[in-house]
Amino acid sequence: MFGKEVVKRGLDYMKKPVIKREYVRTALYPGFENLYQGRTVLITGGTRGIGLATAGKFLSAGAEVIITGRTKQGLDNAVRALNSDRLHAIKWDITDIPAQKEKIDQVFDSFGRVDVLVNNAGANRLPSGESAKQWDEVSEAEWNFILDTNLKAMYFIVNSAYEFH
Ligand SMILES: NC(=O)c1ccc[n+]([C@@H]2O[C@H](COP(=O)([O-])OP(=O)(O)OC[C@H]3O[C@@H](n4cnc5c(N)ncnc54)[C@H](OP(=O)(O)O)[C@@H]3O)[C@@H](O)[C@H]2O)c1
Repeated sequence: MFGKEVVKRGLDYMKKPVIKREYVRTALYPGFENLYQGRTVLITGGTRGIGLATAGKFLSAGAEVIITGRTKQGLDNAVRALNSDRLHAIKWDITDIPAQKEKIDQVFDSFGRVDVLVNNAGANRLPSGESAKQWDEVSEAEWNFILDTNLKAMYFIVNSAYEFH
């Protein structure tokens, strides 16, 4: 009975002239739109790509969402794109390890809690813009850039956030 009802709701939504995947999701999972109400979600690197899409999903599930990025312009664009008063943006370069604790403190001071931490920020390009190099052509600075962003920063963010749990 429940299964039939879910299929019927899904089909009803699909008959709509404009089908948004979000409609289908909320039709298939009744209550999804409130699933994260009262929860705080911190997403590193939410200015574009996967982080921005993830922020959108958590907003539609009712969460307060904090995104981070290195530039005001990137953050402003994301805030405009998602257009929600539950979206908050913090300018934060995650490779700045000494600033890590201060940024996490700022989040906990403002929101009191972090229920979900999405360690999304990452570098898949070298500072030069190249996406790949022969392994024996990678300089030490490039090695450090990738590992500082993709590994070291995540470790220290989790470390700082863990203090509050
Ligand atoms: N796309 C894929 O196919 C794929 C596959 C496997 C893994 N991943 C991983 O998934 C994550 C997201 O991928 P994506 O494709 O969405 O990447 P993307 O489009 O390049 O976005 C990266 C995000 O990380 C932020 N970021 C980068 N360095 C940062 C730093 N030092 N401090 C703060 N924010 C920083 C960027 O913000 P600003 O530039 O505005 O600062 C941006 O919001 C990455 O960790 C990536 O390695 C992606």
